[in-house]
Amino acid sequence: MQFDLTEDQALVLQTARDFAAREIEPKAAELDRTARWPTEIVERMAELGFMGLAIPTEYGGAGLDNVTYALVMEEISRACASSGVIMSVNNSLFCDPLYKFGTEWQKKEILTPTAQGRILGAFGLTEPASGSDARTMKTVCERQGDGSFLLNGSKNFITVGPHAEHIIVFAISAPHPEKPKHTALIVKKDMPGFQVANHDEKMGIRAAHSSTIFFDNVKVPKEYVLGEEGNAFKIAMITLDGGRIGIAAQALGIAKAAIDRSIAYSKERKAFGGVIAGLQAIQFMIADMIVEYEAARLLTLRAASMKDKGVKHTSESAMAKLLASEACTRICHKAIQIHGGYGYISEYAVERHYRDARITELYEGTSEIQRIVIAANALRG
Ligand code: CAA
Repeated sequence: MQFDLTEDQALVLQTARDFAAREIEPKAAELDRTARWPTEIVERMAELGFMGLAIPTEYGGAGLDNVTYALVMEEISRACASSGVIMSVNNSLFCDPLYKFGTEWQKKEILTPTAQGRILGAFGLTEPASGSDARTMKTVCERQGDGSFLLNGSKNFITVGPHAEHIIVFAISAPHPEKPKHTALIVKKDMPGFQVANHDEKMGIRAAHSSTIFFDNVKVPKEYVLGEEGNAFKIAMITLDGGRIGIAAQALGIAKAAIDRSIAYSKERKAFGGVIAGLQAIQFMIADMIVEYEAARLLTLRAASMKDKGVKHTSESAMAKLLASEACTRICHKAIQIHGGYGYISEYAVERHYRDARITELYEGTSEIQRIVIAANALRG
């Protein structure tokens, strides 16, 4: 088993770490407080090749691997979890399925500028009445005589939605009471009938805008159909197998920031005649935080490395996301405990980490969905 990073992976990791510390971290509190979309950070991430990191260079990407993607995602999220998820949606949920299932025209015209970060992409699966039970969506698309589709319905909680040029929208193309068939359409924001609502006011990742999007008789030309008609549920599931690695890495980044801050604080804060780092109560918390973080990191890098090898990694991605997200919440909880009352006020960043952590257990499949996926794969044998 290979645990060491290659020279290239280590170099990109260092670049991401320096960039995040210098250009993102100083702005993270303000972005959170004001819920401002971080235009300048997205532009810089694009310049560094982080918006299409694992996409081949011929299609505008950086041509790197998924292990590097996970390493960079962790560093960006360690500085600012909002910037992390913006990067993750563009890479995992838009560029990756376009590269895997797109036509040559879609790769040249849509994937290339998106992987370069000149425009952004989003992923439309969730609806107001279907989150975990994604198959039961209500959005429909009807094939027209000229091969185009007429799209009607709505999607919600669409991260990056208000800023995306295109959204991959999943819709029922052949209704059926038990086994409806789905088709994926690449919807461009200027197609008539496409409407984006105001962005959601969220508890955490506040600068990463998400919103509801409405489709009212949107005519989607046939060149914008992604993959095989009627088979899009599998496209969604395969995409989420990759996306969950990104969210696991985001959770690692948030957790690492909370651990670093807890260690620094415990070496400064004095109580009972010395710094609190000298107290076993604090030391045990720090030890548990580090062990959970390291275990989740190994699972995440294993899933990313399996993706690089082209091996099925459904269960491994689910395990990585499940452990990383739940560990992240526990780690941030302990970080606040170590900070005491100071951890509860926004002057100290662990308060933000605690709020940011919570979403990682919800999006791209709740913890309960990850358990369903892991158990289903184990029981199938
Ligand atoms: N790879 C390939 N195919 C897969 C697959 C995978 N990982 N998972 C399922 N499939 C296939 C199955 O083999 C099956 O195929 P057949 O019809 O040919 O038999 C088909 O897909 C249906 O699978 P299931 O019977 O398992 O489907 P289900 O309805 O029971 O649901 C589920 C499965 C895992 C619960 C799924 O609904 C799910 O993942 N739900 C969570 C949705 C989710 O993660 N949403 C996140 C939204 S995106 C987001 O959050 C972005 C953001 O904000 C940042």
